[in-house]
Amino acid sequence: MLYLENQKINYKLYGRRKGRKSFSSKDISFLNKNLFCSEKIKNKKIILDIGFGYGESTLYLSSKYKNSIIIAIDVYKDGIINLSKKIRENKINNIIIFNQNALFLFDKKNIKKLISEIWIFFPDPWSKKKHNKRRLVNKYFINKINFFLKKDSKIYITTDSRDYLISILDTFSKSKHYLWINEIPYKWDYAFNKLPDTKYYKKSLINKRKSFFLHFQKI
Ligand SMILES: C[S@@+](CC[C@H](N)C(=O)[O-])C[C@H]1O[C@@H](n2cnc3c(N)ncnc32)[C@H](O)[C@@H]1O
Repeated sequence: MLYLENQKINYKLYGRRKGRKSFSSKDISFLNKNLFCSEKIKNKKIILDIGFGYGESTLYLSSKYKNSIIIAIDVYKDGIINLSKKIRENKINNIIIFNQNALFLFDKKNIKKLISEIWIFFPDPWSKKKHNKRRLVNKYFINKINFFLKKDSKIYITTDSRDYLISILDTFSKSKHYLWINEIPYKWDYAFNKLPDTKYYKKSLINKRKSFFLHFQKI
């Protein structure tokens, strides 16, 4: 089992972390601190799936981009176990799990301009106004990731929160580093884009909330 080096910086992370499932270390291989210099990912397209939950989105990306490396990021224990089992059972070799706050990854200076795509499916909306500041996608986040993204790289975000949608669009539109690509309304539609049935997408259907898909590009 591989672990990331001990981190010195502390970022506050809200929400669930522990789960009910038991943890078997033989199922899991985590992101290694030297991975970005390793042969395994040399000359490969690197795609991040931030907040993969139970891993449906990671499995979708892994099969959509067979020749790329998918770095799957989440702290939720049941989800990590679930995805690890799927990786083992299906002998998948293009997924690597990073089991820490995504912000730690962006403290690694050796991944500058290595990332080609970032996907964030249904980031926690933190809908109460007093909790809005907990949201992952904000101006600090998009400034931080800019350093690690290749030119013309893509960022895809989905949400069923109209309030978060507006805040994300507002944040990107105020940045000089990104363009909003899918401005035509029918292209915002989650279902139209044939995206995976993640747990939170299914929840949005049950609750009759429309899910949106946003596509940005680094200039
Ligand atoms: C609302 S859930 C969505 C899960 C999944 N993407 C889906 O569509 O079903 C948000 C997920 O993001 C994870 N998460 C939130 N902030 C994170 C962070 N800073 N770093 C890594 N994971 C994070 C949570 O643990 C949770 O599993």
